[in-house]
Amino acid sequence: MNRKNIIKINPSNIDIEKVKIAAKIIQKGGLVAFPTETVYGIGADTFNKNAITKIYTVKRRPANDPIIVHLSNFEQLNDVVLEIPPITYKIVDKFWPGPLTLILIKNPLVPSEVSAGLPTIAVRMPSHQIARSLIELSGKTIAAPSANLFAKPSPTKANHVIEDLGSEIDLIIDGGKADIGIESTVLDLTGDIPTILRPGGISFENIKSIIPKLIVAPKYLSFSSDTNQESSSSPGMLVKHYSPIAKLLLFQGHECIVLEKMKRYIDTFLKQGKKIGILCVNEEIKYFQSTDIIIYSLGSIKNLSSIANSLFDGMRTLDNQGINIILVRSYSEEGIGLAIWDRLYRAAEGKVIKADTLNPDI
Ligand code: TXA
Ligand code: MG
Repeated sequence: MNRKNIIKINPSNIDIEKVKIAAKIIQKGGLVAFPTETVYGIGADTFNKNAITKIYTVKRRPANDPIIVHLSNFEQLNDVVLEIPPITYKIVDKFWPGPLTLILIKNPLVPSEVSAGLPTIAVRMPSHQIARSLIELSGKTIAAPSANLFAKPSPTKANHVIEDLGSEIDLIIDGGKADIGIESTVLDLTGDIPTILRPGGISFENIKSIIPKLIVAPKYLSFSSDTNQESSSSPGMLVKHYSPIAKLLLFQGHECIVLEKMKRYIDTFLKQGKKIGILCVNEEIKYFQSTDIIIYSLGSIKNLSSIANSLFDGMRTLDNQGINIILVRSYSEEGIGLAIWDRLYRAAEGKVIKADTLNPDI
């Protein structure tokens, strides 16, 4: 791809001159898409209201969905938050820079457009070297949501950003594939009990080892999977999110039964002339091999990080092949597995097909 608004930067050998071009665009109120360790972001100067408004417009994002502010050093935290509760230091020491976003009380000087009118603000310090140097060289904090069209799977490669927003932003930095491939964990520190509002790149277990009283917002636990409700504490986190264009069917239950049930669904859909795609692990490919379906491998079942890393790319790859229905099953909910579960649950629009017994009907 050779377009004027795309520059390639090697994350392990950063060309500072190229980053400076991007930093200038941020300073002048432009929009730059850049890689982070989680997913690509579309960034603007936090304090430039026009630029922030433009982010909402190009993403077609509802105005009630607040944006995360990205920092390159701890001092910048004071620019965007009103107070730093003592627990913050403990958490930041262990997890920053990295895929953890904190919700804190907003500094009133931050434009209300960034926080969608909330009195709180989301902040994170990414570990990706390109993101870090972009923030540093711009001399600003950078407000950046994921660089996808609203409700589409997040972008883990520059090509995904080009597909969704290509012509509408000033510059796209192509820094290769995102390492984690799933968004940051969002941790709310404004209440009495630290609460995970969105599972992500840092696991619940990992944070709990530092803050034992940590809880996860109940809607993220699978036993509440059929509640299909919205959380008032986290506006914008709608159930319909991360959806491919194809309908995604999420199966859950005992492995053997689930795979058998998925095969029965596939047979029925094929008879109806539907184009079927499967997201599954290497170990399961043999169950589905047939000339009539397209299989995207998420890697090995032994490697949850690889499943996380390829999930969004898998949804987009199948969509690009004109699939009508994607079938996928849930995997372990441990570690990053909880974030995988959450993204699948949302892509399935909150519907789960339980497969504990095999009925004659499907
Ligand atoms: O990994 C990530 O977090 C990526 C990269 C680019 O940093 N960013 C990202 O941003 O995923 P976005 O906008 O797609 O998702 C941020 C989520 C929003 O859905 C929103 O609900 C939540 O963070 N959020 C932001 N500000 C909040 C606030 N003040 N209170 C509660 N939730 C908030
Ligand atoms: Mg997003």
